[in-house]
Amino acid sequence: MKTKIISITEGGKEQDKIYQEAAEIIKQGGLVAFPTETVYGLGANGLEEAAAAKIYAAKGRPSDNPLILHIAEVKQLERIVKQIPDAAKKMIQNYWPGPLTLVFEKADCVPYGTTGGLETVAVRMPNHIVAKRLIQESDVPIAAPSANLSGRPSPTKASHVAEDLLDKIDLILDGGSVGIGLESTIVDVTVTPPVILRPGYITKEMLTELLQEEISVDPALIQETETNLKPKAPGMKYRHYAPKAELIIVEGSSYQMARKIEELAAKQAAQGKQVGIIGTKEFQNEYRTGFIKIIGTRAQEETIAKNLYRILREFDESQVDIIYSEGFSSEHFGQAIMNRLLKAAGNKRIVLSEQ
Ligand code: TXA
Ligand code: MG
Repeated sequence: MKTKIISITEGGKEQDKIYQEAAEIIKQGGLVAFPTETVYGLGANGLEEAAAAKIYAAKGRPSDNPLILHIAEVKQLERIVKQIPDAAKKMIQNYWPGPLTLVFEKADCVPYGTTGGLETVAVRMPNHIVAKRLIQESDVPIAAPSANLSGRPSPTKASHVAEDLLDKIDLILDGGSVGIGLESTIVDVTVTPPVILRPGYITKEMLTELLQEEISVDPALIQETETNLKPKAPGMKYRHYAPKAELIIVEGSSYQMARKIEELAAKQAAQGKQVGIIGTKEFQNEYRTGFIKIIGTRAQEETIAKNLYRILREFDESQVDIIYSEGFSSEHFGQAIMNRLLKAAGNKRIVLSEQ
């Protein structure tokens, strides 16, 4: 199969035709990659088992890992879930369209081939014009995991999708770089109070404030207590992405952490190893050794999230043996950043004690 890549620019001509062509592919049971505000998704008709099966095949994804259904209007939700609990209604009012996925009891029309055999279905309304128009034009909920090969970082631009899926899918809609860069927050609303199954841009603190009750994160996701607990979002149990190089996260207070990273990097380099460093703007002057990548600024954690997956992909292309990364606070958006970093590192971390 040859993959077509079409660039969609705002106000560009021919837009209607492009969406019609993309929607036709979805209706015929094909695969279209498209941008959302979080990461690129790999879309197919979410109500057709055979179409969803193609997603699993293209990504090499285990079939027990369920897909998220993407919708453009709330009335589509009513058709695919059994009920919408009050807490969910509040979250929808405040955060849809946006980077928030809610897990409901599924209606009969949603095939088990989309939900990985579960009685629940994850739904989200993306806040991105391309995603929105594609869903509207296709007139079905679009099942879409991140548009990467299983085990690679999620794509934050169209060229990442092409790297992984060229000639395995029908079409890539290139809408430029995404805004957020980490996957949506997933919240299970089939339980009271709702529980966060995957941290993201919409934080525990934001949901606690909105719902006026303490919202917690699925304990299986909190790495310190890593045990045999089974995460309730099946996808979170996979070691999502393992960089080719060993990745180690160094956590500690301010300069202490940066100095430790430089010290460890220099030691490795002295032994002939190729070293990479992932650091923030605040500490860039501390680093001298190896390939140094400045990921963003601590003053705005959004910048860090936005660059994380791109930098991990870049390190896979360079020949580094070992990467040291600064750690981040596990509050607010930092919790999502640390969750993805720790997964990539296979939990390898050095925690410095206060001095
Ligand atoms: O931001 C996002 O959510 C992106 C964009 C494309 O929308 N999508 C995304 O999909 O990250 P994916 O497939 O890479 O991750 C979906 C996660 C997996 O961890 C999966 O296990 C979980 O959602 N999930 C899906 N349905 C579920 C369900 N019914 N119950 C619990 N977890 C579910
Ligand atoms: Mg994914």
